[in-house]
Amino acid sequence: MSPTDIDEPVSGHRLPLLYNLVYCSRAAEGVDDADVNRIIESARRCNPVFGITGLLVFGGGIFFQWLEGPREHVVQLMSKLKTDPRHESMVSLSESEEVRERLFPDWDMERVTPDDIRDVLEDALGHAEDPRNAVVLRLLLEQLDSGQLRQLSVA
Ligand SMILES: Cc1cc2nc3c(=O)[nH]c(=O)nc-3n(C[C@H](O)[C@H](O)[C@H](O)COP(=O)(O)O)c2cc1C
Repeated sequence: MSPTDIDEPVSGHRLPLLYNLVYCSRAAEGVDDADVNRIIESARRCNPVFGITGLLVFGGGIFFQWLEGPREHVVQLMSKLKTDPRHESMVSLSESEEVRERLFPDWDMERVTPDDIRDVLEDALGHAEDPRNAVVLRLLLEQLDSGQLRQLSVA
């Protein structure tokens, strides 16, 4: 099922009202690549049902996740994530709700390597027609440069 098949609150325009949440967290001790692949598998099973798309980066013991979808469903997922023992110390990096295009419409949940996160964000920025998307992406790229996400690159 594609995320656009489910009912999303739609404005007068054809773009959906999207809730976007970006956070970092620390992986729990012992969490490895296989665990992350299992997380991706369950995300790919569940996220399409709830119209959620995004990406997950894992590197240097740190998770970075971009979630976008209907507010109610993203908030529900966040309350599950907060109690998931596979990670801790979640820090919200950005949060917004706007009528706008999805940045990752085809990604139910894509695993991106730390080496590729800059390219993914820059590519999304290059394609972002919506200035509000561009603002969030520039902020994340700044965070990447300023070292706030540095641990991601120590894969
Ligand atoms: C870093 C991280 C990211 C996750 N991302 C998602 C996700 O995008 N979608 C999802 O359904 N579950 C995700 N999970 C797994 C959920 O926490 C939860 O285990 C899963 O949704 C199954 O929940 P349930 O057993 O209550 O159905 C993630 C877990 C972690 C640790």
